[in-house]
Amino acid sequence: MSYETIKTERNNGLLEITINRPDKLNALNETVLKELKVVLEEVKSDGFETKGILITGEGDKAFIAGADIKAMSEMTPDQAEGFGSLGQGVSRLFETVPVPVIACVNGFALGGGCEMAMSCDFIYATKNALFGQPEVNLALIPGFGGTQRLRRFVGIARSRELIYTGRNVKIDEAEKIGLVSRVFESKDEMLSAARETLGIVASKSPLIIAKCKEVINQGECCGIESGLEIEKSGFKSVFSTADTKEGLSAFLEKRKPEFTGK
Ligand code: COA
Repeated sequence: MSYETIKTERNNGLLEITINRPDKLNALNETVLKELKVVLEEVKSDGFETKGILITGEGDKAFIAGADIKAMSEMTPDQAEGFGSLGQGVSRLFETVPVPVIACVNGFALGGGCEMAMSCDFIYATKNALFGQPEVNLALIPGFGGTQRLRRFVGIARSRELIYTGRNVKIDEAEKIGLVSRVFESKDEMLSAARETLGIVASKSPLIIAKCKEVINQGECCGIESGLEIEKSGFKSVFSTADTKEGLSAFLEKRKPEFTGK
């Protein structure tokens, strides 16, 4: 399928999504969000045909420079609610698709761009990456999850400081405060590393990776006691799978496991 504002490429179970509005620094308008929604919903129901997702921005200048400011300037409150729901829905899809998603950030990841990156499992970035939640500069508040997700990466006090000031965060600080997992000299180097990481994960049982992601996500809601209960129930559930039996037997039989996703 071909899209207007995104590009998709599939290779050995790896889905690469590129936001493709370089003349607008890959800003998120309704079309981009709707196209992302279609792709991610397909992944949710493709029975692990897709084993990992990499998302990046076209060009070297921007991952995503935010939600589309021109579009927002013409919105009524009700339309803004719909736009916010769409953006939040897409971020939630990145967060809940049962496969790992790596945000590969090149250049600007501002506002909705920072928010989309934070809804992925983790973030790789190039040295020229610049993060921030600059919404207050436009007399807006973050609307695609920033008020809730930034604090999970950097802690609540830092998230307040960044959101209230709207200041940009350069790569050294982004790495230091835990927003970014790995930093690369160039976009090519970053994309190769993300492909390698996703290849390693794809060699495991997809069912088990999905369960890890689900349990980690569910634990976000609660304190340690409830989180451990969620983990216990997930731990129990994998013992009914063929892949867990295979993983344990293969170790004991000193051979490589062959996972079927069952
Ligand atoms: N929404 C819509 N269009 C955007 C955009 C956004 N978030 N960010 C950039 N663009 C557009 C610009 O309007 C410009 O379009 P034009 O050529 O038709 O005028 C084009 O992308 C290039 O941007 P420009 O501002 O000329 O590039 P720059 O290198 O001088 O500045 C930024 C780059 C990122 C600093 C600047 O574009 C910016 O501040 N963007 C908004 C960031 C933001 O506040 N995001 C959060 C929104 S809630």
